[in-house]
Amino acid sequence: MSREEIIQQLEFFRAIGITSLSLEEPARPMASPAAPTQRPADTLPIIREDIGDCQRCKLSPSRTNIVFGSGNINAELVFVGEAPGSDEDEQGLPFVGRAGQLLTKIIDTVDPGQITRADVYICNILKCRPPNNRNPEPDEVLACNPFLKRQLAVIRPKVVCCLGTFAAQNVLQSDVTISKLRGKFFDVDGMRVIATFHPAYLLRSPDKKREVWQDMIMIGAELKRLRS
Ligand code: URA
Repeated sequence: MSREEIIQQLEFFRAIGITSLSLEEPARPMASPAAPTQRPADTLPIIREDIGDCQRCKLSPSRTNIVFGSGNINAELVFVGEAPGSDEDEQGLPFVGRAGQLLTKIIDTVDPGQITRADVYICNILKCRPPNNRNPEPDEVLACNPFLKRQLAVIRPKVVCCLGTFAAQNVLQSDVTISKLRGKFFDVDGMRVIATFHPAYLLRSPDKKREVWQDMIMIGAELKRLRS
């Protein structure tokens, strides 16, 4: 591959939100008689390609950019939010507005000095901004959900943290309120899932920061337990 081709490839990765790459050699699959029928492994670039210029739901006409997700593709910890807001729609990246700045600080409390925003992966239930930041509607969640499921299946994080009601209820397939869902771990598809208040809600109700801080301490402890 020429230098220009490598730069082009890296720019493509950055455009779809991949901000770090592992230099380790990928494991070579062993030759097996069943090989010809095996499907190629799913990857984040393949998922982004499948989303394409998505027109699967009624959000597509009003969006500026699809917000796929960004961060460490080998993350042990993934944060799942609700949907892009106006800054995210503008930039094509998740959590880059005021709530995103608060999320960056929240992430710093998980394992202080050890885990920063660059270490985690961040994405949303919906990849397109709902007009005027209204709540996601069921048909939109239904259309977008397969892509989130595939992102999580590819990254295979140890822990998923759902931010706010919509993320929590969707990932946990529950209609229980966020106040009742937060603060404990659930097992979903081999991942430990916890929910906490959405950073945008914290901007309006700063008195809830204490609970979020407690949830981040739980995540830090769970990651340490799972690594040991
Ligand atoms: N709120 C979300 O839920 N996601 C974003 O990406 C930004 C704000």
